[in-house]
Amino acid sequence: MTIRKVASLCLALAATLAFALPIQAADTQVAVRSLRGTDVIGPSLEPDVPKVPNDRGALPRDFVQQPPLIPHDIRNYQITKNFNKCLDCHSWSRAQETGATKISVTHFRDRDGHELAGVSTRRYFCVQCHVAQTDARPLVGNTFQKSTGLQ
Ligand code: HEC
Ligand code: HEC
Repeated sequence: MTIRKVASLCLALAATLAFALPIQAADTQVAVRSLRGTDVIGPSLEPDVPKVPNDRGALPRDFVQQPPLIPHDIRNYQITKNFNKCLDCHSWSRAQETGATKISVTHFRDRDGHELAGVSTRRYFCVQCHVAQTDARPLVGNTFQKSTGLQ
C-alpha cells in the first residue's frame, strides 16, 4: 500500500466517524434524566413555601429570656449597614405613632453593660434572634416543655 492510499483511507474513515458521532449524541439526549430521577422538564418538586400569617397580637413566650416571636410578615424588610426597616416602626421615636412595641432597653447596652444612646451593634440585626412564624410542619420532633416559672 502506498502512503497516498493509507492517507486517503484514513480520511475516509474520519469522514464516516464525523457523520456517525452526532447521530449517536442525538440518540442519548432523549434519555437525559435529573439526579432525582424525574424528567428534566417535568413538574417542579419544590414544596409549597409555608405562609407567614400576617398581623396578629403578641405571641406567648415560653421562657423568660426568649426573644419575642415576630407576629407579622417581614418579607422584603431590609436590614443593611445603612438602613433597618424594623426600626422604622420599633424604634423609640417611632413606636408610639406606629403602634409597634418599643425595642427593649436591653438593646441599648453594649457587651460591657454600658448604656448607649442608640441601638447597640449587638442588637442591630434583629432577625438573628427574632423570627417570624409559619404554619410549617416541624421537621423533627422535640420534647420542650414551657418553663413553669413563667407567670
Ligand atoms: C410597619 C411597621 C412594622 C415594621 C416595619 C416591623 N414591625 Fe414588628 N411589629 C409591628 C407592630 C404594630 C407590632 C405589634 C403587634 C401587636 O402586639 O399587636 C409588632 C410586633 C413585633 C414583635 C412582637 C413584640 C412582642 O412583645 O411580642 C416583634 C418581636 C417584632 N415586631 C419584630 C420585628 C422585626 C424583627 C422587624 C424587622 C424585620 C419588624 N418587627 C418590623 C410593626 C412593625
Ligand atoms: C441578640 C439577640 C437580639 C437581637 C439581635 C435583637 N433582639 Fe429584640 N429581644 C431579644 C430578647 C432576648 C428580648 C426579651 C428580653 C429583653 O427585653 O431583652 C427582646 C425583646 C424585644 C422586644 C420586646 C420588648 C418588650 O418590651 O417586650 C422587641 C419589640 C424587640 N426585641 C425588637 C427588636 C428589634 C426591632 C431588633 C433589631 C433592631 C432586635 N429586637 C434585636 C433579643 C434580641
